[in-house]
Amino acid sequence: MKKENIKVLISEEEVDRKIREMGEKISREYAGREIHMICVLKGGVFFMTELAKRISVPVSMDFMAVSSYEGTQSTSKVKIIKDLDESVEGKDVLVVEDIVDTGRTLSVLLDMFRQRGASSVKLCTLLDKPDGRVTDIQVDHACFKVPDKFVVGYGLDYNQKYRNLPYIGVIEFEEV
Ligand code: IMP
Ligand code: MG
Repeated sequence: MKKENIKVLISEEEVDRKIREMGEKISREYAGREIHMICVLKGGVFFMTELAKRISVPVSMDFMAVSSYEGTQSTSKVKIIKDLDESVEGKDVLVVEDIVDTGRTLSVLLDMFRQRGASSVKLCTLLDKPDGRVTDIQVDHACFKVPDKFVVGYGLDYNQKYRNLPYIGVIEFEEV
């Protein structure tokens, strides 16, 4: 049998501090404007709510659910499970993600929001895994770069578990 061990990669304090800084940075960038934040469920939700609390310009929010992963294996298909409730037309969209790995999911979504008439579309991710990239997607804001390992916590899951960890951890499998 395999036992799952979680090793802390980024502590709760570090994550909180970085999100606070990111909120201030984004508030300066969007000064005088409004931000329409779009969260990619479910992973992005923990980051989105914390980030939104640290942004001082007016914010509206919408949610979208897509899937591209089964277990730890990336698949090339992006399936829309839940579409947005509101139109993005004429809005300054900020897509909020948990992690950009291959970038496949996001490249599809960012193009879609542009086609639907958003004024601007930018991407803010909690984690950036640059070694996994297979697309030329532009990551406008990333809180942390992480190595090419499977990470969990702060919204990120392994088979739907560990999203609620208040830190970012690396999952290791031990034979028991
Ligand atoms: P993509 O490969 O950039 O399209 O990433 C798609 C999604 O896969 C991310 O939004 C995450 O939900 C998930 N994902 C990618 N890497 C990890 C990881 O290390 N841990 C947990 N989920 C991941
Ligand atoms: Mg995700």
